[in-house]
Amino acid sequence: MSIKADFTQGFVRNHWYAAAWAGEVGERPLARRILDEPVVLFRTPDGGAAALEDRCPHRLAPLSLGECADGGLRCGYHGMVFGASGTCIGIPGQDTIPPTAKVRAYPVTERYGLVWVWTGTGEPDAARMPVLPGYGEPGWAVMDNGYQRHGGNYRIEIENLMDPAHTTFLHKETIGNRNQKDVPVQVSTGEHGLSAFRWIENVPASPLDRLSFDFGEGKVDRRVAFNFELPATSFVDIAVIPAGMERSEGNLLNGGIRTFSYKFLTPETSRSTHFFWLHLRNYRQDDAGFEAGLRAGLEKTYGEDKDMIEAIQRGQEETGLRQRTAIAIDRAPIMALRMIDRMIAAESGAPAVPAEA
Ligand code: FES
Ligand SMILES: [Fe+2]
Repeated sequence: MSIKADFTQGFVRNHWYAAAWAGEVGERPLARRILDEPVVLFRTPDGGAAALEDRCPHRLAPLSLGECADGGLRCGYHGMVFGASGTCIGIPGQDTIPPTAKVRAYPVTERYGLVWVWTGTGEPDAARMPVLPGYGEPGWAVMDNGYQRHGGNYRIEIENLMDPAHTTFLHKETIGNRNQKDVPVQVSTGEHGLSAFRWIENVPASPLDRLSFDFGEGKVDRRVAFNFELPATSFVDIAVIPAGMERSEGNLLNGGIRTFSYKFLTPETSRSTHFFWLHLRNYRQDDAGFEAGLRAGLEKTYGEDKDMIEAIQRGQEETGLRQRTAIAIDRAPIMALRMIDRMIAAESGAPAVPAEA
């Protein structure tokens, strides 16, 4: 069996995608390609974030080369000004504004420290905004502003994030643990997503676990759930409790350590992905030194994924293939890609093309 690599499969558009960290959108316009469309993010005089097509309707100059001025975004070529709704609100040297003087405006929401844009055509669906349990609640520390640009198609990212098995090998220098390698993964599905999870029982606490919590000399049980809320949110939920402790929700929250690790994948082009990450933890919440070490460790871990994803992208482009054989751990990734195909097909009204031959 061979599965072809196809970079023309398109994107799920009726969705809120993370476009930038709120702090990136300020006094100067920010250019960012999203779903292969040029977008410019900026702030209006009242401080609200706005997102427009990054092409002036006059001569198609990138509006991101202009500046925030005159109550909107002013083109850097001849000074036409556009408001958050995309309509032109001023043209130097003339009083009338032609009806064609407008650009596409993307609905915008700020939440979780991120600026999100709705890339669909219809009304934005508030229910499609990710919900982050623990965020902003007492007892949880937030580590945010995480970002990497990955030079690979978002489907390679989804396969990576639905695949707990790679951790042992790719991340052996960081989060990998040899004890994990033979524990099978269970998969469950929901309406918009799926979860691949496993308990790794009665293993020594990792060095990081010991830094995070006093497990004494005893062993631990570790539950790792790789959740994916399609099309763009990965949510890894890790609970570590003393071995043998009852697995009640209360114990999973308070009996040891709990981590919610989010990645928001925003396709940049068909060959690259914006990888935003945000991390919640219920341990050592106020320890800045610990957090700095944790951040560096996560950046390194995601960098290992980035290097592999980019190498795989090159391999797919050279061969035109996505894979030549299938193994048992492909189950969750294939299910996730099939769900993506169904979502894309539902938006276009076309029948879903299977994710594999
Ligand atoms: S290109 Fe923007 S005003 Fe002329
Ligand atoms: Fe990884």
